[in-house]
Amino acid sequence: MEERKLHVDAGAGYDILIAPGLLDGAGKHIKAALPKAKRLFVVTDSNVSPLYGARLVASLEIESFEVHTHVIPAGETSKSAENLVALWEWMTAHGITRTDGVVALGGGVTGDLAGFAASTVLRGVDLVQIPTTLLSQVDSSVGGKTAIDLGTGKNLAGTFFQPKLVLMDPETLRTLPPPVFMAGMAEVIKYGCIWDADFFDFLAQRPTRDKLMADIGRILYTCCDIKRRVVNEDEHDTGLRMILNFGHTLGHAYELAGDYEKWSHGEAVAAGMVTAARLGAELGVTEPDVPERIAEVLAPLGLPTHIDCDFAHIEKAVGIDKKSAGDSVTLILLEKIGCVRPLKLPKEDVLELMAKTAGR
Ligand code: GLY
Repeated sequence: MEERKLHVDAGAGYDILIAPGLLDGAGKHIKAALPKAKRLFVVTDSNVSPLYGARLVASLEIESFEVHTHVIPAGETSKSAENLVALWEWMTAHGITRTDGVVALGGGVTGDLAGFAASTVLRGVDLVQIPTTLLSQVDSSVGGKTAIDLGTGKNLAGTFFQPKLVLMDPETLRTLPPPVFMAGMAEVIKYGCIWDADFFDFLAQRPTRDKLMADIGRILYTCCDIKRRVVNEDEHDTGLRMILNFGHTLGHAYELAGDYEKWSHGEAVAAGMVTAARLGAELGVTEPDVPERIAEVLAPLGLPTHIDCDFAHIEKAVGIDKKSAGDSVTLILLEKIGCVRPLKLPKEDVLELMAKTAGR
């Protein structure tokens, strides 16, 4: 598989490199992207560290970086204010300067937390993202959103802070547990739904992990290409970027219904996309066969196409949704596969429709 490269214009501009084995060459790419850095602060988690930590550190030390590593416990609860403060104190205790850098090695939790720390320590130092899960490779590592969770909800404090470089080694996906790989596939399929009908058909023809991994370079490239186009146009999430939330409002309701334990984010988004398509069909916006077509791509991968939830969960999800402003909500609907259509509606109408289409 050849090396693939994309350039994001947002921030100071940065490259996304995709290639198997890239982890072992990370040092030279980081040296080129952060020429003044002497110290690198690697943040990783307790699952990823034993798998890939030593290889990354070795490739950084070959380039004569002074490397410090901090391992957070794997899991969403690590995206906390407490861990953010711990990272600030660890970096400053080890003499971080404005020209040094932070390297996030892991999934979305690690990237979001380390990104937030990098964007704020000493008022901002350079950040490199090395995502190792499918979800973080196709979504959270690109576009500069950083966050921690608060007692009042997920991702409620954070910054927009673009990295200086994103390195993706598809080989790291081989060690993902099957449900974690498939949860990432929900976001992959989302890109086909909102942007690229040919890509959707390409995915439909690859209903197993082995078949998907055989074409993973193209899959990662296509998703990151779509994401970078959206982010280039709307870095700060005030317009076009909302289309990336297709399936997410109902997805949030399903995550809430399962107490964030029964259903992963990807699983909830999978069912959320099918219900959003049904909702669009009900409104006459979406072609009637679209819900079934999406379900037919999700189901062979073991992703849910329907999740029961109470109206109270829908109400809460619509209330906390970032696309809801005042008395209206912007629904992210499809006209057909590959063609997205945001539709602003009064909140009451949306709730009534969702209760009819998605409630129990
Ligand atoms: N994950 C959605 C976004 O980056 O805007």
